[in-house]
Amino acid sequence: MPSAGGHAVTTLTITPDHRPDQVLLHSSDFATIQRELAAVGVPMERWRADAQLAPDADPATVLKAYEGSVAALNAKYGFQSVDVVSMHPEHEQAQAARGKFLAEHTHADFEIRFFVDGAGVFYIRTGGKVYQILCTAGDLIEVPADTTHWFDMGPKPLFKAIRFFTRPDGWVGNFTGDPIAKSFPEYAGAGV
Ligand SMILES: [Fe+2]
Repeated sequence: MPSAGGHAVTTLTITPDHRPDQVLLHSSDFATIQRELAAVGVPMERWRADAQLAPDADPATVLKAYEGSVAALNAKYGFQSVDVVSMHPEHEQAQAARGKFLAEHTHADFEIRFFVDGAGVFYIRTGGKVYQILCTAGDLIEVPADTTHWFDMGPKPLFKAIRFFTRPDGWVGNFTGDPIAKSFPEYAGAGV
């Protein structure tokens, strides 16, 4: 079973929203990434994520491995509940899960994910630009409420992320119907 291990590096690529080929900034420097995202209201932090987990580790195992971080985040932000997304290339729901949030959408609540294994790409569209964020283990990212975005885990997905909630229905995707996501490079997935 492939593993992204510790090789994946978090990157940010910024392009105009209608010129995905025109790279305005590409960086793997976390301070730069954090600053660029903070400027458009997207908080991102690095947390420790070095637990050794099997590719198909179940949610309870993932939460147990990170119970200290989860407790700290719940206390800091007042989250009401958490769950775990655990995806690997042989997962029977991999394609359905990938397709679910691959088109541009918003949520009524903010979307917070703590990546603890593998990688996935958030595409955040704001101010006429698209911010492509390759999130890897240790990244904690918040997509604010009503922010247009999409997420690609790739056709060979490999990632585990802990999701935090403050309300039960905040996760419904409100799809914009804009086909913009199709004009951007797809992510291959960390399980390649
Ligand atoms: Fe979303």
